[in-house]
Amino acid sequence: MDLKPLAEQAKIEIDQIQGLDALDSVSRKYLGKNGLIGVQFSQIKDLSPEEKGRAGQELNSVKILIEEAIKEKTEQLKKTELDKKESQAIDITIPAEEARTGHLHPLTLERRRIEHIFSLMGFEIVEGPELEDEWHNFDALNMPADHPSRDALSIGKTFYLQNGGLVRTQASPVQIRYMEAHKPPFRIIVPARVYRAESTDASHEVQFHQVEGLMVGKDVSTANFKAIFEKFLQEFFGEEMKIRLRPSYFPFTEPSFEIDINCNICGGKGCPACKHSGWVEFTGAGMVHPNVLRNGGIDPKEWQGFAFGASLDRLTMMRHKITDIRLFHGGDPRFLKQF
Ligand code: DAH
Repeated sequence: MDLKPLAEQAKIEIDQIQGLDALDSVSRKYLGKNGLIGVQFSQIKDLSPEEKGRAGQELNSVKILIEEAIKEKTEQLKKTELDKKESQAIDITIPAEEARTGHLHPLTLERRRIEHIFSLMGFEIVEGPELEDEWHNFDALNMPADHPSRDALSIGKTFYLQNGGLVRTQASPVQIRYMEAHKPPFRIIVPARVYRAESTDASHEVQFHQVEGLMVGKDVSTANFKAIFEKFLQEFFGEEMKIRLRPSYFPFTEPSFEIDINCNICGGKGCPACKHSGWVEFTGAGMVHPNVLRNGGIDPKEWQGFAFGASLDRLTMMRHKITDIRLFHGGDPRFLKQF
C-alpha cells in the first residue's frame, strides 16, 4: 500500500483552500465516513497478516497528518477573517481629516484690501472694459500717434483685434471713461486686468493687474497725492514706508514722477533686489495733463488733479515676498494653498 501520493495530494488541496466552507468539504473528502482514508482502512482486511500491521500504522499516521493540516488551516483562516473584520471596523474616535476647501486667489485678496483702504479715504471703486479702442487707450491719454507702445506684438506691446480695437494695455483708459460720465470733484481707484505682448520672465507677464488712481478737484495738489499715497502704503504694508518722488515722464501727466519706495528686502541698506540703491521703482504718477482733462470733458482752467498707476501684482509680490510673477497663474496648488 503506497500512501505517499494520497498524503501529498491532501496537503496540496488543503494549502490552496481560501475559505472555511471549502476546507470543510476537503475534510469530509478525506476523513469522512466514506472518505478516502476510510476506504483505505476498509481494504486492510484483504492484506496478509504481516502487511496488516504496517499498513494500519501508516494509514493512521497519514490520517493524523491530514487532521493536523486541517486544524492548522482552520486556525489560519479564522484569523484572517477576524483581521479583515477589524480592518473594516470604523473607529469613531479618530479625528476627521480636515476637508480641503477653495479660497480666494492672493491677487483677489490683496485687491480687496487695497479697495478697502482707499474706500476709507473716500475713493470710489470703478471698473472699465478690457476690450478698448485706440481713443481711450492712447489718443485721449495724450499719447502721440508715434508712441512706441502703440505698436503691435513684435515691436510694441499691444494686442490688436481684427475689428481695429485692442486689449487694454493699461488701466488709464478708465480715467477717460469716468471723466466722460462724471462731473468733478471726484476720487476713484480702478482695479484692472491689463495685457501686454511681453516675453515672460520672473517680473513680466502677458497679463497682469493695475490699480489706477485719479483724484480731481479745485485745488488738488502733489502734496495731497503724497499724503494719500503714503497713508495707503502704511496701511497696506502695516508699517511706515519711506517714499521719494523722482521726476519722470508720462504723456498723460505734467509734471510726472516716479515713486520709489524703500526696498523692503534690505530695509534700504542696499541689496541685489534694489541694485544696491536702497530704493525700488514702484509707481508712475503725476498731475493730470490739461489735454487729458479736456479729452474727458473737464475744463483744466477750473479743475486739476493727480493720477497714479500701480501694479497689483508688484504690491502683492512685495507684501508676500514672492519672487516670480508667473506663480500667480501657474496653477500650482503648493503656491496657492499658502494664502
Ligand atoms: N499707465 C501707466 C503704465 O501702465 C502707469 C501710470 C503712470 C498711470 C502715471 C498713471 C500715471 O495714471 O499718472 O505704465
